Amino acid sequence: MVGSYDRKIDTLRISITDRCNLNCFYCKNKNFFHSSKTSILSYEEIFKIVKCFVSLGINKIKLTGGEPLLRKQSVDLIKILLSLHLEDLVLTTNGTLLTGYASQLYGAGLKRINISLDTLKKDKFMFLTGSDRFEDVFEGIKVSLKTGFSPVKLNVVLLKGINDDEIIDFIELGEKYESLIIRFIELMPANSNLKDWKRYFLSRAEVLNEIKKLGKVIPKEKNFTGFGPAEYFEIFEHKVTFGIISPITKPFCSTCNRVRMNCKGELILCLYGASSIDLKYFLRNSSEEDLTSIIRQSVLRKPTGYNFGEVPGSKVAMCEIGG
Ligand code: 5AD
Repeated sequence: MVGSYDRKIDTLRISITDRCNLNCFYCKNKNFFHSSKTSILSYEEIFKIVKCFVSLGINKIKLTGGEPLLRKQSVDLIKILLSLHLEDLVLTTNGTLLTGYASQLYGAGLKRINISLDTLKKDKFMFLTGSDRFEDVFEGIKVSLKTGFSPVKLNVVLLKGINDDEIIDFIELGEKYESLIIRFIELMPANSNLKDWKRYFLSRAEVLNEIKKLGKVIPKEKNFTGFGPAEYFEIFEHKVTFGIISPITKPFCSTCNRVRMNCKGELILCLYGASSIDLKYFLRNSSEEDLTSIIRQSVLRKPTGYNFGEVPGSKVAMCEIGG
């Protein structure tokens, strides 16, 4: 599907649950209520919808949450999705349950995993997430690497005054484990943290300046790993590659290749767009052919972009759609 700007839309990010066992202050939304069991799509329904997307050229799927591993039998969903021979299937998780799931996930055929972790300090983890499960996450990272996932990408949301003193520690962690790639992410305004986001915002330029203290920073070729918006770099005389995702200071709307679907089956064309399309309704009330046609027409209407100056934060709750 080729939308405006000649963008080839080939990636679908699916949130399979809006529940999470962490409570990160920039992600949570005080006014957000979890969906009831009856309102969310079954795995069979997700599979049916994904098949329609695949017939339209979507070949990369990202599974997220909430925390996707909180949903029962998530490994079964991964198995059925892998039967579609996608070009890429990635799971984004907060890592708290990974020690228990890594080998099952790998055994099911999953090869790539993204873990969110914003600090390497136990106390700070508690402050950021409201949870004392830092060690579970850290162990989860190590177990995933040992199990064979490659690469394991660690998503670090940058927060001024909170984790900007750990940038080099994260780089050193990336240096220690060959298959681990650290990705720094610029904080985006979401409805939960809108009032505060400028206070905590740390830019791509600031993080690069900090890393330059270690040595010359050398850009890698585009799409060096993965198909998303991250830029990747090496550091001269260091055995490490790291990434930066800069939605604020280097917006990538013109090359955005993805759409999202939440666990209720609502298609979200842009994280900052106001509207969504109720695919569950069409799934339950029309033919596969009509559903495919609705998806196609909807995706082709993907907005050209957003303007943070005009849009007062995302209408979508980050905790619902996982970034
Ligand atoms: N800004 C940037 N990244 C965010 N994420 C969640 N909320 C935000 C935000 N406001 C990230 C998570 C995770 C990914 C799924 O989305 O930290 O790494």
